[in-house]
Amino acid sequence: MKTLVVYDSVSATKMTEKVAKIIADSLKEHGAEVDCFFYKEVKPEAVKGYGCIIVGSPTMAWKPTKEIMKFLESLASDSKSGKMAAAFDTQIQMRISGNATKAIEAKLSELGFKLVSPPLISYVEGKTDRYQMKDGEAEKAKAWAADLVKGLPKSV
Ligand SMILES: Cc1cc2nc3c(=O)[nH]c(=O)nc-3n(C[C@H](O)[C@H](O)[C@H](O)COP(=O)(O)O)c2cc1C
Repeated sequence: MKTLVVYDSVSATKMTEKVAKIIADSLKEHGAEVDCFFYKEVKPEAVKGYGCIIVGSPTMAWKPTKEIMKFLESLASDSKSGKMAAAFDTQIQMRISGNATKAIEAKLSELGFKLVSPPLISYVEGKTDRYQMKDGEAEKAKAWAADLVKGLPKSV
């Protein structure tokens, strides 16, 4: 069985996509079999082929995007029961940032997924549509994924 990294990404600089790819590469480096897709590229029924899904979204107005939440809602019931999952987001580091991972995790739990890792919060900086990852965030994402692999059964 495989791991799916699925994400939404809205801005021109596609920060959440960048983090998703770092996570996917790190998972692969550590022995996991991984696919990584923008949510529109994933047919909900295909999710049942994965043992673990890792779901990411930019934080927008303190929440995940409506689109990634709709994607999660659309998963067929046989796609999720007892399967493993984890959440990540990108956001600007400030006191009132909010946190997209909270709502993603709540939805994953409600759907019957088992959370296998604390969430990854990835900080970006810069002006709208000219974002970049803050120093150290790429390494943090790599390390998060490496830790997550340790919690997956060898067959996932
Ligand atoms: C309309 C809009 C709303 C945003 N709201 C928040 C927010 O509530 N909290 C936060 O930390 N960042 C917020 N941001 C910043 C984005 O979360 C951040 O830039 C993110 O990395 C963009 O990801 P993307 O490039 O994958 O779309 C917002 C950005 C936009 C354009």
